[in-house]
Formats: sequence, C-alpha cells, structure tokens
Amino acid sequence: MCGIVGYYGKREVSPLLIKGLSKLEYRGYDSAGVAILSNDGDLTITKCKGRLANLEEKLEENPIHGHVGIGHTRWATHGQPSTVNSHPHSNEKGTISIVHNGIIENYIHLREWLIAEGYKFNSETDTEVIPHLIDYYYDGDLLSALMHATAKMEGSYAIGVVSTYEPDKVVAVRKDSPLIVGLGKEENFIASDIPAVLSETRDVYLLKNNEFVVMDQDGVRLYDAEGRRIEKEIYHVTWDADAAEKGGYEHFMMKEIHEQPKVIKDTMTSRIVLDQPINLDNITISKEQIEKLSKIYIVACGTAYHAGVVGKYAIEKLARISVEVDIASEFKHRDPIIDENTLMIVVSQSGETADTLSAMRLAKSRGARVIAVTNVVGSTVSREADDILYTWAGPEIAVASTKAYVTQLIAMYTIALYFAQNKGTLTTEQLEAYKKDMLELPEKAEEVLKNKEEIQKFASKTYMNKDMFFLGRGLDYAVAMEGSLKLKEISYIHSEAYAGGELKHGPIALMEDGTIVITIATQEELFDKMVSNIKEVTARGAKVFAFAPEGHTEIEEAVNAVTYIPKVNELFSPVIAIIPLQLFSYYVSVQKGCDVDKPRNLAKSVTVE
Ligand code: M6R
Repeated sequence: MCGIVGYYGKREVSPLLIKGLSKLEYRGYDSAGVAILSNDGDLTITKCKGRLANLEEKLEENPIHGHVGIGHTRWATHGQPSTVNSHPHSNEKGTISIVHNGIIENYIHLREWLIAEGYKFNSETDTEVIPHLIDYYYDGDLLSALMHATAKMEGSYAIGVVSTYEPDKVVAVRKDSPLIVGLGKEENFIASDIPAVLSETRDVYLLKNNEFVVMDQDGVRLYDAEGRRIEKEIYHVTWDADAAEKGGYEHFMMKEIHEQPKVIKDTMTSRIVLDQPINLDNITISKEQIEKLSKIYIVACGTAYHAGVVGKYAIEKLARISVEVDIASEFKHRDPIIDENTLMIVVSQSGETADTLSAMRLAKSRGARVIAVTNVVGSTVSREADDILYTWAGPEIAVASTKAYVTQLIAMYTIALYFAQNKGTLTTEQLEAYKKDMLELPEKAEEVLKNKEEIQKFASKTYMNKDMFFLGRGLDYAVAMEGSLKLKEISYIHSEAYAGGELKHGPIALMEDGTIVITIATQEELFDKMVSNIKEVTARGAKVFAFAPEGHTEIEEAVNAVTYIPKVNELFSPVIAIIPLQLFSYYVSVQKGCDVDKPRNLAKSVTVE
C-alpha cells in the first residue's frame, strides 16, 4: 500500500504535501515524491528513493512554488524501490502527472497496447499506464479522461491527477483503495487517510468506490462513474488530532501501547454495562438468525487473525457455536463450506486488507452474513459487511499493531457474550459476572504498564539472540503467536510460537544450550502441563522467561526469570498478557537500533493480495 495526498488552495503547496505525507508514511516509506503546478504554469516533479526526509531535503535545495499539487509515499509492489519507480508518474510530454495507491492488475495488457499506440515507458511499475491512458483519452476534459482511463483498468486504485492542461484543478478517484476529501476554507485536500488532513480540517468526505472528485476554485464536486453529480454527507472527525501524534513518546508504538487501558474502555463503553443487556448498535443480526447459525468463520490476517483465534475460544465457550478461524489469504482457495446459516466475522484494523476483503466477498457471494470488526469508519469492510462492530482504538500509526489488537479482543468477547445472551447459553448471573470481569480490564492493563522496567531488563538480556521461541497452551498459545509476530516484525529476530503440547512432536529438536524460550502460563487448568513443558526445554539447556499470573510463585524454581501479570478472569487474560510481550518486543527493537514504527519491508495495511 502507499499514501497519496493532494491540495488545491491558496497556500504554498509543497510544505502542505510534505506534512500530509508525513502522516501517511506508515502506509509505505521506500520512496516519496510530489508533482506541483508551479506558479509559472509548469508541472514540476521531485521524487526520490528512501524516506520522506530525503524528499524534504531535495525540496529545500530546489523549492517549487505553487498552490496545486499531489504527493505520494510508496510501498513497492511492482518494481523495486528506486527513484524512477517512485510516484508521481507522468505522460511523455510531462503534462499529466498522477499518484496512485493500489494495483492495476491488467497493466501488462494495457502497457502492450499503449506501446503499440506509440507510448514509451520508463519505470517497472503498473502505475505508469495511468498517465498514458489519461493522455490517450484527453480531449479537453481531465475528469472525463480519468473516467475513460479507469474504465480500462482492472484492480484497485486511489488516484490523484494534476495537469498543465487544466492547471487550477486536482481530480481524483477511488476503487478498492481508500481516499478521503478534506474540506477546508477556500482550499481542499485529498488523502489516503484522515490523519493527513487533520491539522487542516476535521470535515471530510469518505469516498466510496468509483466516486470521482474535482477540486478547483469552485470547491469540491463529486461524480459517479457515469459523470452524474453526487451529494455526500460531511463526516466530522471527532477524535483528537493528538491521537495521531506521538504525544511525548519516542515512538508511536510506545504511545499506542500506553493508550491500551483507554481504548479497551472505549471499545466496551455503552456496550458492556452491568445490569443492562449487551447493546451492539450497528449489529442487526436477529435472535432467530443467531439461533440458526451452524458455523462461524473468523477470517483475518496477521495480528487480526490472532485476535480471531481468541474469538474462537470465546464464542465456542460462551455461545456454543462452532467456529473456524482462517487466514484470509488461504480461505478463498480452499472452497469453504458456506450456506445461509453461516456467519463470517472479518477482523481488520484498517478495513482495507485485500485478502480479507476477498474472503468476505466470497462468503457473501455464497450467502453468508458478515459482521465486520474494524477500526476505520467508512472503510471498505465496514461498507460491504452486513453488520459492523467498530473497535474504538483511534488511529493506529505504528506498523506493528498493539492497541488495535486489544480492542479486537474486546470486540471478540463482546460478540461472544452477545451471542450467549441471545442463545441463552449463559444464565443472567454468569453473563453479569463475565461483564464485571471485563470491566476490570482497563485498570489491570494500567497495572501491567507500571511494570515496564522489569521487561526492559529482560529485553536487554536477550536482544542479541538470533532466535526466540514462544510457548503457551490454550488461550496462551494465541497470545504466544501474537507475541512472536510482534518480535519478528520490529526486531527482525527469528521467532516461532508453539502450542506447549506440540513441542515434543518436533520443535523440541531445536532446543539447545542457551535457546531463549518465552512462556505464557495464565490458564489455571493448563498451568501444571505448561510447567512440564518448561521443564522439558530447560532440561535441553533452554533459558526460560515466564509470564505468569500473580500468586503462582512455584513457577520460579522452573524458570530463569518470571514476570507476574495481574490476575484476571482467564478467558480475558490475552488482553493483559499481550502487553508485556508488546513491551518486550519494543525494548528489543530499540536496543537493536531498529526502526520501531516503520519496520523494513512492511506496510500498515496490505491492500494487495
Ligand atoms: O488492517 P488489518 O487488521 O486487516 O491488517 C492485518 C495485518 O496486516 C496486520 O495485523 C499486520 O499483521 C500487522 N503488521 C501486525 O502488527
């Protein structure tokens, strides 16, 4: 995925584009560029490989003055990160420039056709077909040329276009890649995400697929693919602009880890209230439909998938409905059994993950009902699903997901309890007891955060290791998977998570003197079994660092070090147990000097399959 911005107004465009891109760097950061219609009518492009800072430097050396422009920060898909592959891309005459987020799937075919028509290509990107297509169709109307061009394109795109032919204008469109319009006073913006415009305006249009934008001196006009004007409600952003700033922390990840008590609370607010039925405002699935459910699929990627694994435990335990959890990229390739009594729960922080969207569309096409658990209002999953449960994590900027994960867990528990309430699988007393335990989680999360020093010490003892293993059983296995993903994402240390019981079926062969094993043992019934697994690995020379609930001091004699975590209802322990693991990864990453918020090769949301 990439980030795009655009501006039309009276102010100097270059600093505004850079500022907007700096808020989108989480979407990609291997190269960046801008196209600016300079005051003398020229279309000037500055772009380069590497971080936004390189582009900023270039623009400082050779400033471009103008009031209309577009910008891009790239996460390479087609063609390696290089200056020539960076956006904006232009037609041969340099009269049309575009920025693009997404993938043009039929670009090879279009490229061949355009070459046959006499067009010349410079880059290895799929994107370069777009300015040539617009050039091919341009007949005095930039919007109409973009419409014709997109009609030829297959795939996903959010595109911003500027041209010397119509220098007082930015045109844009989206399909399957996000795009918003920021509405200012005598100035307007386009951007891939709200934080890019938030310092300038809180009023935005959330564009739908195949909606076109024209920004010029008359303001903003929106059109459908047939060229008809459309009206749209303004979405007023209520979250604080500070939510997308570091707020005194060195990294977004640390800030977001610290926001967890608050966002856990926010995600429960008005839904989990003692002595009141669970109230899920955007969920319209009826009691009868819940009773008839024969199967639930939870489908997601990465961290969201790990939240789904916890969801399976919770829904099966509380609501007694059979649940399968699937990695979205695998789901659609295995011809899953789906009928009208199947429910799919898709979990996606961004709501734009391509694999998750494909899985959701497949399930819908076969008659399943879909509940989306997402953090982004107006995202594609939220628009296409039947029901939505928003996680109120606020903008998550660090590429490694932390606060979004815990809110996804809360969403999973909330759905499980809601289904249990509707199916009558829990008594009122049991339901109330679970709700009471859930409501304690924000306070318990605060407690874990007080224990940071211990975790930092532990990180400083282990950060030089090349491999680490995470072990857990039951829900702790789900936490181990997420802990392991966090570590590898931001510290580049190879790590694997294993179910404790599975160890002796193969992975134990990897244990040798000094192997680092991190164990999580919060499940009472599985505690002794976990201790046996710990002994199995220490007997082979492994060093074990354990996370155990307060009070279980007997673990001390089996391990090299232990960090105690506050006791909570063990069904909800993943919410608390993941926090020290997030902190651990963070400190390891910092000690190793890695780029915590923008780890190599990753992007915040993966909008390609
Ligand atoms: O936006 P989504 O929740 O759909 O994203 C899914 C994964 O790409 C995401 O969780 C990824 O694994 C993160 N880098 C995890 O930290």
